[in-house]
Amino acid sequence: MRKVLVIHGPNLNLLGVREPDTYGAFTLDEINLELKDFGEKIGLSVDAFQSNHEGEIVEKIQSIRKGYNALVINPAAYTHTSIAIRDALLLLDIPTVEVHLSNIYKREPFRQKSMIADVVNGQIAGFGKHGYLLALQAVLNLIS
Ligand code: DQA
Repeated sequence: MRKVLVIHGPNLNLLGVREPDTYGAFTLDEINLELKDFGEKIGLSVDAFQSNHEGEIVEKIQSIRKGYNALVINPAAYTHTSIAIRDALLLLDIPTVEVHLSNIYKREPFRQKSMIADVVNGQIAGFGKHGYLLALQAVLNLIS
């Protein structure tokens, strides 16, 4: 089975209690479980990783240069600031999809710039947790 890693950035470990009007009422564990189940149905083995630390996310991206067929990433606040995560993504030669729960283009100006949007295959924003399922379908299409 083809393997996909889903990376969740800082503060996403507190989904469910963190600004539920913006990010939804589901916990990260619930979302990850749903992704695993959905992945199995469409032929993808899904692993998930969350970190509040930029360097850990960089190291995780570096570590999947071998062993994974695709990456789905929501870098959370690092989306708007991290050249290091952008540079790490440039090391990969697997399809990568950027996901945001909220529509970052309807929010504060500082959220409307993604440091990674032009180095990933595509971006999905504004559909809540459903965006991750859309991203799995997108990567399946890219690797099939
Ligand atoms: C987010 C949007 C970011 O601006 C924010 O810092 C997050 C979550 C989203 O999924 O909508 O933590 O990436």
